[in-house]
Amino acid sequence: MSKANDAPWWKSAVIYQVYPRSFADSNGDGVGDIRGISAHLDYLKTLGVDALWISPVFRSPMCDGGYDICDYTDVDPLFGTLDDLDTLIADAHRRDLKVLLDFVPNHTSDQHPWFIESSAGRDSAKRDWYVWRDQPNNWRAAFGGNSAWTWHEGSQQYYLHFFLPQQPDLNWHNPEVVAAMHEVLHFWLKRGVDGFRIDVVHCVGKDPHFNDDPRCLAGEAMVHINDQPHSHEVLRGLRRLVDEYPGERVLIGEVNIRSTRQVAAYYGASDELHMSFNFPPLDAGWDPVVFRLCIREVENELGAMLAWPTWVLSNHDVSRHRSRYGGSLRRAQAAAVLLLSLRGTPFIFQGEELGLEDIELNERNRVDPGGRDGSRSPLPWTEQAPHGWAGAPTWLPFSLHAGPLSVEAQHQQPTSTLALYQRLLSCRRTSKALQLGDWQELPSHPQVLAYRREHEDDERLVCINFSEASQVVSLAEPWTLQVASDGQGEGRPFTGWLAAEQAVILCRRTA
Ligand code: GLC
Repeated sequence: MSKANDAPWWKSAVIYQVYPRSFADSNGDGVGDIRGISAHLDYLKTLGVDALWISPVFRSPMCDGGYDICDYTDVDPLFGTLDDLDTLIADAHRRDLKVLLDFVPNHTSDQHPWFIESSAGRDSAKRDWYVWRDQPNNWRAAFGGNSAWTWHEGSQQYYLHFFLPQQPDLNWHNPEVVAAMHEVLHFWLKRGVDGFRIDVVHCVGKDPHFNDDPRCLAGEAMVHINDQPHSHEVLRGLRRLVDEYPGERVLIGEVNIRSTRQVAAYYGASDELHMSFNFPPLDAGWDPVVFRLCIREVENELGAMLAWPTWVLSNHDVSRHRSRYGGSLRRAQAAAVLLLSLRGTPFIFQGEELGLEDIELNERNRVDPGGRDGSRSPLPWTEQAPHGWAGAPTWLPFSLHAGPLSVEAQHQQPTSTLALYQRLLSCRRTSKALQLGDWQELPSHPQVLAYRREHEDDERLVCINFSEASQVVSLAEPWTLQVASDGQGEGRPFTGWLAAEQAVILCRRTA
């Protein structure tokens, strides 16, 4: 276990995901932008997070919400300018907030000049920058499961795309592609970004034999698309590059594979990712069995390799956890205690600190080709409509109860979800046990998850009651209730009694 003092910043950090379209709008066009983020840095500072990961803001035709990039080193006018981003980075750094960008190495937009050149003809100098074949195999793309190959009439071959046809996959076997993408990272690192979230990094390496996927027809995991050995070589190259820069720049991978053992391999021998997202909690319901198994697996598999875990309950691709937990705010609040007290770096998805729920859209109003609009609704800043988004109608509607859940309404309200997140983050910031300590499960009722976090002489106990009935936990020594998900009993001796669906953090009682 690392010593608190020499641990890199990202181990004790809490990272906040900004989905820029829906965070804050500075120019009244109904779409959030970079200046909107800059204008609310003090909000993030008061919340108590340490870093922002900003989903893509680069030039893009926006077929996949900006994950289809046509210029990796410029900002899309929808979000502002490169100057705006430079200013944001400087403003964030002045407040001691780190800034992470989203790096999308697997595919570009079909409007990227590289692809336009590649598709100009079979003897184009950049033909091999993408994956072209005379015959398709049976690989299926995401978003609807159609073929991952699209016929290109002009140059009479199929090209590969694991996502939309507008997102052709790059060929990372080509050293020119590697060099060009490395230049992209240098560009941003020199501008001062503190690291990257790497999009679908488990897809980057391709099966050199293009074997048909035996399980494709059954609609199961695509073995030849995911988790090919070459992805690790690509990652080692990226890691060497970021390690050349001072200041502990960090690589966090989206490795969307359910087996923790396979995910662990993406940390390499400390020469690949610094951290990888941990996916099972992102689609888990309110279920102690799922969480218990997942936490044990992470502790065992990552712990054995000294690979640093991450925890995340919501993001822009999945249903918000409150919605997954049947719309229950009480459960979402208890889950916040879990998220912010496990061993590893937690990620907060914008709006979860307000207890937002998914929006529901009919077929006609859907924007995302993958049907993931639900969690992407705009953040309500003020109580009165249009909730701080004056001007054109917002690109997606607000979620239910946007007024009472707005930042303004919850601000300075001691029992609000926002206040709970602030208390949890402040508790975590002042406890080395919570930030960096060991995790040890304690015996408890099957509906209660209980664990100890310990670092040198700092110690916390955490109990989460998943059941709709109250539960008793018996502790040998006296403890003080430091934070409760419903705010009840804080600062008082812990009685051993947990209310229904309540979660608590306990600290040692001082005489
Ligand atoms: C990642 C992103 C998702 C995007 C996909 C393709 O999963 O999180 O939003 O659609 O990659 O880039």
